[in-house]
Amino acid sequence: GAAVEVDISALKPDEKMVVAWRGKPVWIMRRTPEQVAELAKNDDKLADPKSLRKPDEFTPPYARNEQRSIKPEYFVAVGICPHLGCSPSDRFTPGAQPSLPDDWPGGFLCPCHGSTFDLAGRVYKNKPSPDNLEVPPHMYLSDTRLLIG
Ligand code: FES
Repeated sequence: GAAVEVDISALKPDEKMVVAWRGKPVWIMRRTPEQVAELAKNDDKLADPKSLRKPDEFTPPYARNEQRSIKPEYFVAVGICPHLGCSPSDRFTPGAQPSLPDDWPGGFLCPCHGSTFDLAGRVYKNKPSPDNLEVPPHMYLSDTRLLIG
């Protein structure tokens, strides 16, 4: 089938791996406890903090929460900007990008037109992307094996 099984046992906190699924890059990021805690603080800066927009397209039922994930530690998303399809880059470290505000808590930055996303793939307000990053269908086969699709 089209589903892809992934071994995530080597993924360390603050790291992201990329796998191909249906010709798309799918990110698996392992967030630190600090990064998970940060997700609760920025709702007022986000365009759609609760992922209510087009949930059937972008957010499966089990990811309709603040972390947009099954397990808070792991974030799984399609690495394609919903604006015009570029691939956002990692900007996990606050202050790593001089053009971003000082209060940037880290996340993903689309190089094409500057959409910024938090570490749950939620887009910041007043950015060109109308939507949060897509969370693909996925499930855990065990603590270290993930099935995407
Ligand atoms: Fe990402 Fe336009 S394609 S901001």
